[in-house]
Amino acid sequence: MTRAKRTALSSTSSVPGGASQEGCADTPLWAARPSRGQRRPGLGWSPTPARLAMYEMTSEQVPVAWPLIAGDGPPPWGAEMGCDALSGGIFYCDPMGWVTDDALPVTNPNVFIFGKPGRGKSALVKALLLRMIRFGYRGLVLGDVKDEYEPLARLLGVEPHRIGPGLPGRINPLDPGPLADGWSELSAAESQRRLAVITSRWLTLLRGLVSSQGVPCGPTQERVLTRVLAGVTGSDRGCSQLAPAAVPDVWAALDSPSDDLIRDSRHHDRRSFLDETRPLRDALATLCEGSLRGMFDGPSTVRPDWRAPLQTLSLRALHDTGNQAAVGIALMCLNSWGQAMRELARPGDRRIVLRDEAWLQTRLSLDAVSSLDANLRLSRRDGDIQIVTYHKPSDPLAAGDAGSQAAQIARDLLHLADTRVLLGQDAEVASELGTLLGLTRMQRDAVTGWAMQERGRALWLVGDRRFKVQLLLTPLEQALFDTNTAVAWAL
Ligand SMILES: Nc1ncnc2c1ncn2[C@@H]1O[C@H](COP(=O)(O)OP(=O)(O)OP(=O)(O)O)[C@@H](O)[C@H]1O
Ligand SMILES: [Mg+2]
Repeated sequence: MTRAKRTALSSTSSVPGGASQEGCADTPLWAARPSRGQRRPGLGWSPTPARLAMYEMTSEQVPVAWPLIAGDGPPPWGAEMGCDALSGGIFYCDPMGWVTDDALPVTNPNVFIFGKPGRGKSALVKALLLRMIRFGYRGLVLGDVKDEYEPLARLLGVEPHRIGPGLPGRINPLDPGPLADGWSELSAAESQRRLAVITSRWLTLLRGLVSSQGVPCGPTQERVLTRVLAGVTGSDRGCSQLAPAAVPDVWAALDSPSDDLIRDSRHHDRRSFLDETRPLRDALATLCEGSLRGMFDGPSTVRPDWRAPLQTLSLRALHDTGNQAAVGIALMCLNSWGQAMRELARPGDRRIVLRDEAWLQTRLSLDAVSSLDANLRLSRRDGDIQIVTYHKPSDPLAAGDAGSQAAQIARDLLHLADTRVLLGQDAEVASELGTLLGLTRMQRDAVTGWAMQERGRALWLVGDRRFKVQLLLTPLEQALFDTNTAVAWAL
């Protein structure tokens, strides 16, 4: 309220109320009302006028003082997700469109979804996947741990790929992907560039796999692995084709090292090489034996149909063994493989890549966090929308001691997504929402209070803008996305 209006308001305090107002039909309302109210029973008379606080600030500063004030929602394009609780309007979600819209401070299309178990993380992803199909997007689910994307896939006429102990589905995490296509026709410079990309991806994965077994993977081990990969693929001999590589090949090359490998990795003799690389070999062997045997230790048998609206890779059979570490390692392999498959995606091949239950991977080791980090960093280049779900923001921090470099890298991972969706959380998580995501007290209260009152309620952080959104599901979606029935049957 302006100073002028305030003065005008107080000057009306002598205006008599009651009958005299009837003759004031043309008078503005504030001029017809005494500021203390009418002095009659039940009409709210106050002996002193209410003090009106006055603030002056620019429209840029207003959202800092009132962060959840109703303003314009995101532009009306993309998937209709539900209701903006502050404005009452429809909330639209189009992560890639937000990147290209200069009005929104969003520079990457990645989306992180946080929420206590059962708050509706997966339902939100499924709704987004289904509703973005209309806009030409297709989905890729890298590791459906609980088989919950199966009904959605079936609805879309797609049969899920299954990977698990004793199942025929196999993924080779060292698959070079489409970058190796037409290798013999590539110029020397281009093949060197592609080789560097492929080798870097493999090394990131192998480091993650090895360190997840508690084996440190420092520069010495990395040098050995680089030499081994070059030997296995034939790239050190300048071969015109990139020979297929798989984890057992790497293991075998370490177990029976060539003289060149021993010399290149600066070991005195074969004995010292074998002694020093034993932990490395043992760590790699976990992919070839035990729960993971037959899943990631040979050529890929899964051939994704990139024209289908959805491709899901089910890990339910492995999940049912109860070995959570194995599921984490499997997710890491799938994520790396998925990154390989998405390199050189055709123009117009719009895809939403989902990494559900990513906490199973990131809590394994810092290198496992770095592996996910590398997968996500590339999304801006290839145009995919990457969605990652966690339980709480501190999940990736479990990989390292608080305050260590590990925790810092894990913390940086959280900033790889400009869109973060915060479904309901317990009050204990409130302080980490503040420290890790920089939420104000009012925003934290929205996550631990308002969002906990109903499923699907979430605080959406889109760049530096905040929205309180209630996801609305159609009856068909409610039936398709229902995971509570499975819990009820299990009880
Ligand atoms: N907006 C919504 N409206 C109605 N029901 C919902 C909504 N969101 C989720 N649900 C229901 O809540 C249940 C739990 O949802 P969901 O499986 O998505 O939770 P989650 O956070 O992914 O759990 P978890 O961490 O165990 O994977 C499901 O039965 C789902 O159908
Ligand atoms: Mg879920």
